Amino acid sequence: MLSNIISCVLIGLDGEIVNVETDISNGLPSFSIVGLPDTTVRESKERIRAAIKNSGFNFPIKRLTINLAPANTKKEGTHLDLPMAVGLLSASNQISNKDLSEYVFIGELSLNGKLNKVIGVLPIVISLREKGYRKIILPIDNYNEASIIEDIEVYPFENLAEVIDFFRGEFNIQKKINTKNENQKHRIYNMDFSEVSGQQGVKRAMEIAAAGGHNILLIGPPGSGKTMLARRFPTILPDMDIEESIEVTKIYSISGLLPSNKGLIKVRPFIAPHHTTSKVSLIGGGKTPKPGDVSLAHLGVLFLDELTEFQKNHLEVLRQPMEDEKVTISRVNATVTYPSKFILVASMNPCPCVSKMKNYHIFDLEENIALA
Ligand SMILES: Nc1ncnc2c1ncn2[C@@H]1O[C@H](COP(=O)(O)OP(=O)(O)OP(=O)(O)O)[C@@H](O)[C@H]1O
Ligand SMILES: [Mg+2]
Repeated sequence: MLSNIISCVLIGLDGEIVNVETDISNGLPSFSIVGLPDTTVRESKERIRAAIKNSGFNFPIKRLTINLAPANTKKEGTHLDLPMAVGLLSASNQISNKDLSEYVFIGELSLNGKLNKVIGVLPIVISLREKGYRKIILPIDNYNEASIIEDIEVYPFENLAEVIDFFRGEFNIQKKINTKNENQKHRIYNMDFSEVSGQQGVKRAMEIAAAGGHNILLIGPPGSGKTMLARRFPTILPDMDIEESIEVTKIYSISGLLPSNKGLIKVRPFIAPHHTTSKVSLIGGGKTPKPGDVSLAHLGVLFLDELTEFQKNHLEVLRQPMEDEKVTISRVNATVTYPSKFILVASMNPCPCVSKMKNYHIFDLEENIALA
């Protein structure tokens, strides 16, 4: 028999619908997945086999073929486990085909059938809503993230058996329709700009930078408070509105940096890479391109402490993302663009030669200079 289950894969921040077609026919027992699966998807065979068996269903001992359509784009992500398992159970008549086409399935399977949290659920849900899909089945640990988006019916489940029972009408789940977003008003910082004593000139320069979104370089001797000031800079930035919060949360979602108990990110990001960081972690990249620090700092602050310690070519690669407010990364698998609109705050000690200059007051703490 044949079945078709709908799922979604991510290309950068955009979701693309994948039809998981399953065919079961007579012949020598085999299990193949076609349609350009990457290693994580190919490995899912073993997880699906064990999860189906350990959830109390029969794994068909026949010739099984799963096609991930469209077959010309590379598929990656463990979240295709659930649609493939449901496809196999549907094609082997263990659940009825009837309602399945209305739902989109996302979830990684454990060997015992439990549904594990997956990354990138927020951008997937946003893309699905844009494409007109309204009912989404996903792991319970991804519920908070998916619930950010309005007008979508989210069905969170603990394990494969619950999903199948739901379609057999034996499991009642309260469908959760998201209609209202949480209040935006609560920002919590464990430090505040008001704690800075004196330093009126620097404070004024930083306030101007925060108001106008300007980059700022702090120059001063050790102990003059550069790091302390920079860390308090986000506390004087304006609140993020809901669109900004969603944009930032999407990037953290695909990076796998969103905790399960957290929905929307409401605090502007503050990213402070060490000066030994690599170019890839700064700009983004990898076999399947992931966002780098410039994108993780999107709509927030990128803080380069001890600027002069960074390698020159690392600083050079920041030029294009700072000018364009986005970064495009090309790899064999895909070319993706991530946003990178941030305020750069940098700090450095003055060059030793300036101490020899006459009438130069840089070492006077109160007159510590800030160039905006
Ligand atoms: N204006 C200030 N108000 C309150 N605390 C301050 C002020 N200036 C400095 N400090 C305190 O001095 C200490 C040293 O500051 P900080 O580490 O920010 O200096 P720095 O300029 O980054 O030095 P370095 O060049 O060594 O990195 C911190 O504990 C900070 O709280
Ligand atoms: Mg410092």
